[in-house]
Amino acid sequence: MIAPTSDYVLFATHFNEVQDYLIEQCRSHSKVFVLCDENTLELCFPILVEHCEPLSKAEILVVEPGEQSKTLAIAEQLFMQLMDSGADKRSLLINLGGGVITDIGGWVGANYKRGIDFIHIPTSLMAMTDAAIGGKTGLDLGDYKNMIGLVAFAKCTLVCSSFLETLPPTELLSGRAEMVKHALLCDQSCYDDTMSNILLDEPLDLDDLIFSAKVKLDVVSKDPFEHNIRKSLNAGHTIGHALESWFLSQGRPVAHGIAVAAGLSIEIQISTMCFPESKLPAQEIALNLIDAFQLRSLDWPEADQWMHYAQQDKKNTDGQIRMALIKDFGQCDIETVATLEQMKAAYAHFRALLAL
Ligand SMILES: NC(=O)c1ccc[n+]([C@@H]2O[C@H](COP(=O)([O-])OP(=O)(O)OC[C@H]3O[C@@H](n4cnc5c(N)ncnc54)[C@H](O)[C@@H]3O)[C@@H](O)[C@H]2O)c1
Repeated sequence: MIAPTSDYVLFATHFNEVQDYLIEQCRSHSKVFVLCDENTLELCFPILVEHCEPLSKAEILVVEPGEQSKTLAIAEQLFMQLMDSGADKRSLLINLGGGVITDIGGWVGANYKRGIDFIHIPTSLMAMTDAAIGGKTGLDLGDYKNMIGLVAFAKCTLVCSSFLETLPPTELLSGRAEMVKHALLCDQSCYDDTMSNILLDEPLDLDDLIFSAKVKLDVVSKDPFEHNIRKSLNAGHTIGHALESWFLSQGRPVAHGIAVAAGLSIEIQISTMCFPESKLPAQEIALNLIDAFQLRSLDWPEADQWMHYAQQDKKNTDGQIRMALIKDFGQCDIETVATLEQMKAAYAHFRALLAL
């Protein structure tokens, strides 16, 4: 096995368009394993088997749905199941699910016996446009998000939009947050279109899904191991992850995209402090994010309750918090140092906007 160093993504509307590829992959590996969560086992796996007969003999690995499964303990159980079921270096792991499954399945696949082939079949919008692309794998450490992981590219990612038919509306909305981030990193008209579609509750346009996934693909292809431009994809994530960690610690997790939407609204305010010359309509964007992602419906913590999570962020160096800040449409400063005071002030501003 030669580990891939870039993405190979096939886009399809229905699974029958990519079934031949999967059948061939199943036949060319010694044994096939499918990692699902309980929901994707019930709702998505039967569609795979219908189109790919060899999968009827695959070993199924199942975890509980949700962020709580992204742990070392669950990964260890999966390693043991692979070993007990005779997985060898020529085995194939198919990760069928949302970002939790592609994150943990990618990590397990990349580490089991120092790496076996794995294929992502994303079933949530979040995973189709973001998590299953770019090779980042990850586990949480306690409540701290994605503290363990590595960049390991799937042999292939099969993006098949018909899986979205069973995705709950709240999860669809969550996926649209990363689409807004990709749009902000593109240009104003892309942002305007993406945001107005969400605010008007327009059905997701599949061309928009593919466009958004390709924004990420393009950035990752230029900088797969995040030395420079790839850092821009972390916009909204320093504070988004910190807030997500806090909600997780309280036993009431929020969808990743909802945390990212909040993170973007707050970090855009920090951007106005760091780049006073910026012409970005920060307040308007923040209010749109608050409306579009229904951020008023959550019970937000005090700043002191989540800031320590941001201090552990992977992007920080020399004890300084570093953020990827969007400073204009299509422009991101990838390593701005932000102070705790700026974060507190931006969060206070966000809370004031929530009250409008
Ligand atoms: N590696 C990366 O680059 C990257 C990027 C973005 C997000 N992530 C990670 O992805 C995770 C979030 O991903 P997510 O939002 O997909 O969460 P998720 O995997 O928990 O899926 C959300 C929910 O939707 C259900 N679901 C998924 N597909 C379904 C379908 N087709 N029909 C019915 N239900 C379905 C799942 O069972 C789950 O309950 C976070 O852990 C985040 O950190 C990683």
